[in-house]
Amino acid sequence: MKLLVLGSAAGGGFPQWNCNCRNCSGVRAGTVRARPRTQSSIAVSGRDPQSWVLVNASPDIRAQLEANAALQPARGARDTALKAIVLVDAQIDHTTGLFTLRESGRAWPLYCTDRVNSDLTEGNPIFNVLSFYCGVERRRIDAGGEPFRIDAADGVAWRTLPVASKPPPFSPGRAAPAPGDNVALVLTDDTSGRSVLYAPGLGEIDDTVWQAMQAVDCVLVDGTFWTDDEMVGVGVSSKRARDIGHLPQSGPGGMLEWLDRLPASTRKVLIHVNNTNPILDEDSPERAALTERGIEVAFDGMEIVP
Ligand code: MLT
Ligand code: MN
Ligand code: ZN
Repeated sequence: MKLLVLGSAAGGGFPQWNCNCRNCSGVRAGTVRARPRTQSSIAVSGRDPQSWVLVNASPDIRAQLEANAALQPARGARDTALKAIVLVDAQIDHTTGLFTLRESGRAWPLYCTDRVNSDLTEGNPIFNVLSFYCGVERRRIDAGGEPFRIDAADGVAWRTLPVASKPPPFSPGRAAPAPGDNVALVLTDDTSGRSVLYAPGLGEIDDTVWQAMQAVDCVLVDGTFWTDDEMVGVGVSSKRARDIGHLPQSGPGGMLEWLDRLPASTRKVLIHVNNTNPILDEDSPERAALTERGIEVAFDGMEIVP
């Protein structure tokens, strides 16, 4: 099993088109040492290196496919190594890339929960619009941990965990979050038995998530914000991390405290990093605090073989 990080930034990407925060202006000007990053997505392959499952369809998908030669094996006039799609939520940064994938020669096998399916047929009816192009062949995944398999990733066992987060602002369910709005994925390699937990949106670490974090070999988890009031502090938004379903890294009960409690052998990687987050600056004290703890920051093109 191999995971390929296609996009390691949160919604907006890094730098964000209209943002002049210290990170965004600094990376544009070359005065902050940081890598630009595209919006949130990973790809997963099993035994067949020419067959991949796309997990989340980022608005940056076109550039992501161009940047990763493994995803274009060029076996015919039209080709792709992407064979199926899994969505962990219905957010814009995880779904609008589906429009770019409309030229597919066949309907996309697409795995998502009932809650995500309803947001993408009602709140933001992407699936309805796609039915005029290649269409999606929706496969239901259960939010409650029922294991499943995807032919395109032979040799990988998949399982979801419901996670506390928020459905998107356009969701009819925004005011009443429910299991299935957001899921984490646990992926296990049949042969090696090694596993990864992927949770780009994690508002809270409950017992189920904590058990799973302790059981896997690698956690690839929510790295959106360093502090709860980060966007307020930078003056770019009135939204707080916890209000929009993301657990900040620093402070009491923050992600770092949880990661510190994991075994030293667990690989710890932050992903879905917002452009305002100081950890993007490779020379920042916040980044140094991660390095000291053995925590990595995902970057576009990163490969993970747990
Ligand atoms: C989120 O996960 O909260 C998103 O990145 C928000 C967005 O895409 O606008
Ligand atoms: Mn997001
Ligand atoms: Zn910014």
